[in-house]
Amino acid sequence: MASLPISEPIVPDLTTKERVNASQHPELGTGPIPVEFFLSEEIFQREADEIFGRYWLVIGRSEQVRNSGDYFVYEVEVQKTSVIVAKGKDGKVRAFHNICRHRGNRVASGAGNCRHFVCQNHGWAFTMDGKLASAPDFSQFHDLDKATLGLVEINCEVWNSFIFINFDKNPAQTLIEQLGGFVEQYRDYPFESLVCGGQWSSKLRCNWKVFQDIFQEAYHVSTVHAGTFPTFYAGPINPFGRPGGFKTWGLNRSATVVYNPEYEATPIEKVAAALGTTWTDMATEGFPGSNWSNNKYFAFDINGTFPNILIDVASGFFFTHQFWPISVNETRWVGSVYFLPPRKPSELLSQEQAYILIRDAWREDLSLGEAAQLALESRAMDHVHFADSEIALRHSFEAMKQALNLDL
Ligand code: FES
Ligand SMILES: [Fe+2]
Repeated sequence: MASLPISEPIVPDLTTKERVNASQHPELGTGPIPVEFFLSEEIFQREADEIFGRYWLVIGRSEQVRNSGDYFVYEVEVQKTSVIVAKGKDGKVRAFHNICRHRGNRVASGAGNCRHFVCQNHGWAFTMDGKLASAPDFSQFHDLDKATLGLVEINCEVWNSFIFINFDKNPAQTLIEQLGGFVEQYRDYPFESLVCGGQWSSKLRCNWKVFQDIFQEAYHVSTVHAGTFPTFYAGPINPFGRPGGFKTWGLNRSATVVYNPEYEATPIEKVAAALGTTWTDMATEGFPGSNWSNNKYFAFDINGTFPNILIDVASGFFFTHQFWPISVNETRWVGSVYFLPPRKPSELLSQEQAYILIRDAWREDLSLGEAAQLALESRAMDHVHFADSEIALRHSFEAMKQALNLDL
């Protein structure tokens, strides 16, 4: 499987006029990006088959299936299927196609806890580990063996609380191989201990890579987020959101976002920071593995985890953005924020302040994807352009090119 090299980390002087990231990454090039990368039906079909059909994909978190019998259902349109993730009696987390083996009805919906998945069509019942447990009037079938009629299983692995699936029956690489240096970097980060307290989702009329790119750079922050983060990130040392660090792990990448040390917290942010951990409280001590660039003004690292999730690690919390293609020009985005479970109401208040702030900021981002898609579809221009500060987008483009062996 193709992979880009593992690079030495860069922690640039943010005031320099040099385009430091590109000069450290000649393999990523500096040229314009063809709009076909985002618009081509042919590329999209190859992504569906060769990327979403063969790579490990985050489908959820272990907190969603804590107990035996817990399950959730997730639609994966790009593979034309619905997936059940369930924890069996043996404590193992498994994934199945949500398809009754009789005539194809769905056997589960939503999320919950149960002992069997029962098809509402004719009542075939499946155990949590996927076996066909019973089927009414089964003697009426011809030459069928119940043992071969279990739910169709999908490869499923859990790494550090993230549940991954792989639709390939024989994945070319293990999950750990795919994650590469990310595993070492975050081996001790307590992902398992943090819980999701805020999650937002939207279906957008744009290509999934158009929308993913919006969250891989901070160049847009002072303009798009003038309402929510006017000066928290943008300040005298870094007015235009250059990355405070950048490194790559094969197809994965990490870009550091820095904060403005001269930022004056708002009154509510001061209250929230005094009571617990909140978004703009940079005094919180980091968990092990955070701030790999050892940046004095570290805010968070954007960890582009191939192919479709950003696992962004801050000091006292982390958040994810996931981008599920529905079609070449439709995407479902899911943004989630994770903190330690609040131990008292005052900590909950701090976290709620963070959730509200980031909800509003992400709403600002939502305005960008569909407008960009329409602009690209007009084909009024043939290319888009990535600045040195958008090096993560360039790596993302090159990673996809390499994985698909695209000649663009
Ligand atoms: S389709 Fe499920 S029992 Fe018939
Ligand atoms: Fe943004």
